[in-house]
Amino acid sequence: MTRGHIALIFWMASCGMGFAQTGGKSETTVKAEAELAEQLKLGRRQYFLHCASCHMANGLGVPGLNPSLVDSKMVRGSTLALVRAILLGSQDPELNKGKRVVDADNTMAAYYLLMNDEQVAALTTFIRQEYGKQRDRVRSDYVARVREVAMEILEEQAEE
Ligand code: HEC
Repeated sequence: MTRGHIALIFWMASCGMGFAQTGGKSETTVKAEAELAEQLKLGRRQYFLHCASCHMANGLGVPGLNPSLVDSKMVRGSTLALVRAILLGSQDPELNKGKRVVDADNTMAAYYLLMNDEQVAALTTFIRQEYGKQRDRVRSDYVARVREVAMEILEEQAEE
């Protein structure tokens, strides 16, 4: 038996041990699932803190007053548009492309001062998974870049 063979046997044994500990999943998968669970927990907390009062615990909103997030094209669609809408609320000129989705003259607050990038990333991931059936994760550094764009929009609005 060569040294290579011995190394191979050790490698196979260590893989086997890895599988035994993680129920057949690779360590990377287990780590990713744990991170996602943690992010969803934080996101859910942000949702109940900031959003559920209007969009309701079940995400269905209040007809005519606050739109439903369940089956909302915006929640399912572009992450960029969604993150920006959360940061700017009704101050986002592209929220619903300027069209009102509710009858009442109700507006949505801007959240850029109330949540950091990590919290916005968690909240966006949570509402996309919970109400939009999307399985992707939104990361903090992505929110940081959208925040820069959102701040430019606010500055432009202030100059008008
Ligand atoms: C004060 C009530 C209120 C709160 C709190 C609120 N929203 Fe809204 N939200 C609205 C209203 C009203 C609209 C429609 C605004 C418009 O068209 O200008 C809206 C629109 C939206 C939309 C667009 C929906 C669509 O399909 O067009 C999303 C997504 C959304 N809100 C998410 C959130 C999230 C996430 C939070 C928590 C950070 C939040 N909202 C907090 C009232 C609220």
